[in-house]
Amino acid sequence: MDGDVAFDFEGRTAVVTGGSRGIGRAIALGFAEAGADVVPLARSEPALEDVVAAIRDRGAESRLETLDVTDSEAVTDCFDRIADDLGVDVVVNNAGVNPEAALGDLEGVTDEGLRQVLAVNLEGAFACARAAESALLASDGVLVNVASVGGLVGLPRQHPYVASKHGLVGLTKSLALDWAPEARVNCLAPGYVATDLTEDLHADDDLRRSIEERTPLDRFADPEEVAGPALFLASDLASYATGATLAVDGGWTAR
Ligand SMILES: NC(=O)c1ccc[n+]([C@@H]2O[C@H](COP(=O)([O-])OP(=O)(O)OC[C@H]3O[C@@H](n4cnc5c(N)ncnc54)[C@H](OP(=O)(O)O)[C@@H]3O)[C@@H](O)[C@H]2O)c1
Repeated sequence: MDGDVAFDFEGRTAVVTGGSRGIGRAIALGFAEAGADVVPLARSEPALEDVVAAIRDRGAESRLETLDVTDSEAVTDCFDRIADDLGVDVVVNNAGVNPEAALGDLEGVTDEGLRQVLAVNLEGAFACARAAESALLASDGVLVNVASVGGLVGLPRQHPYVASKHGLVGLTKSLALDWAPEARVNCLAPGYVATDLTEDLHADDDLRRSIEERTPLDRFADPEEVAGPALFLASDLASYATGATLAVDGGWTAR
């Protein structure tokens, strides 16, 4: 985030899955700028190394941890290590995919595409929440799940993705009930954001224009415009918000 520090996370540790690129990277750097120590998690090491260096450049502590959120044993080990060494005060379940094999009409969706989307977007978030539960409950912690407008409304030809993101909105509500009053759980529902995930959409002039025209603010968001609301939900400014889903979608779901 540019400009003045709007939130204060001094003395807290934030863990951001999918923190190496796109929205997760912007969230990780936003937390670092707001004073938190930050551990970004993803599978590919080179992109993570770059984010870890950028976090340290901002004066925050970080560490290099690769993690595939679909490996639930590795998830538990990873969160245990971070909790022991740095503590865990905030977790952002941001890792997500929407591969070609999961797009299109039902007939075109392969079993593998369906499983991959559910395994990363929903089961991965579930595993991270479970692995972080005791640390978050002990630290007045906050979990922020990154869903999508596809968690609030249907999106044609994206059935596994929409099912996974509706599941994440539901998981947010049920965890919020169980974890209150010790810890808060909220959800973010971004609209279209210019990242690797949507590269095929914004690289195609016709597709990009049709999405822009459907979006009242008439453009894709930058990742930093989603990072601010994620920090808000994790911050003390949102201390009475739990079980909530905040749409940050340029007005997409206002129609
Ligand atoms: N971009 C949009 O328009 C948009 C809109 C609404 C919601 N969202 C949601 O926002 C989140 C971030 O999206 P993005 O656009 O920033 O995507 P992105 O640029 O493709 O980045 C995805 C991140 O997730 C990581 N990741 C993927 N699979 C993983 C796995 N199995 N284990 C651990 N990390 C994994 C990736 O790193 P590795 O590949 O190295 O693991 C990367 O860091 C997703 O949940 C997405 O559904 C995006």
